[in-house]
Amino acid sequence: MNALIHYDQVSFAYADGTQALEKMSLSIERGQKVAFLGANGSGKTTAFLLMNGLLKPLEGRILYDGTLLSYREKALRELRKKIGIVFHDPDTQIFANSVFEEISFGPKNLDLDDATVRTRVEEALRVCDIADLRHKPPHFLSFGQKRLVTIASILAMQSDVIVLDEPTSGLDHLHARHLLTLLNTINAQGKTIIFSTHDADLALEFADVGYILKGGQIVRQGEITGLFQDYHALQEAHIAVPYVLDLYQTMVERALLPAQATPPRTLQQLKSVLVNDREMQ
Ligand SMILES: Nc1ncnc2c1ncn2[C@@H]1O[C@H](COP(=O)(O)OP(=O)(O)OP(=O)(O)O)[C@@H](O)[C@H]1O
Ligand SMILES: [Mg+2]
Repeated sequence: MNALIHYDQVSFAYADGTQALEKMSLSIERGQKVAFLGANGSGKTTAFLLMNGLLKPLEGRILYDGTLLSYREKALRELRKKIGIVFHDPDTQIFANSVFEEISFGPKNLDLDDATVRTRVEEALRVCDIADLRHKPPHFLSFGQKRLVTIASILAMQSDVIVLDEPTSGLDHLHARHLLTLLNTINAQGKTIIFSTHDADLALEFADVGYILKGGQIVRQGEITGLFQDYHALQEAHIAVPYVLDLYQTMVERALLPAQATPPRTLQQLKSVLVNDREMQ
């Protein structure tokens, strides 16, 4: 087994005694797009904070690329070059006086020369569609704009793994779609994308594999389409059935559509199944 990120029976409790994770085991392969799903308080954010050493397990082990995490300052600095996290609340991440400065901070700390830093920042500004905000103080931006700035800061680091805690929350439809396209492009270049979401439709469309969390434990895991067909597990963990899958399965049950080898994951795919079926008749 050659997992990039491996949790072995990881437990974590906060200082007030809240048991946030309990014996969590998982294996994420390089290049995967991984969704963490689960109700509020199920442990998604905590699992992410452990991933790049912001929190330390009370029990169990975490390995990155086969090596046990070390919590020494230098080792953590190295780890954070490899795993970049975009937090849910941009205000916890933003600190600089201008957007440009904010996005430059990470690449500057990678000891890159000024020209490379500048190129990376310009590229991140461009792909996140925030080039016109470059001189603005990030604290005066709207929530969605701040979110795009934090995403741009992580993209500019070009880390191997990008972790995003509820990446599309607060983004308008256009920017949310744009972000998914961007993440797909980065993923096609070999980056591993790990994200949490309450949006079942988005997870079905975008992820390869998923984990369902409940009460700090992983209750189900696997290939995303199969995971979303486990209605019992979804209901238990308070996760919605993606509407495309729901509609598709109702149509199959009512003999309006023959069952497909692979169920549709997007409305577009469902539409083409319908068109193809009509043409066959
Ligand atoms: N700093 C903290 N101190 C004490 N308890 C905490 C702290 N942060 C989180 N918790 C608790 O740990 C548990 C897991 O929280 P976590 O934030 O990981 O959940 P989550 O799945 O990310 O939820 P959400 O979907 O609401 O973001 C919850 O019971 C939460 O109340
Ligand atoms: Mg959370």
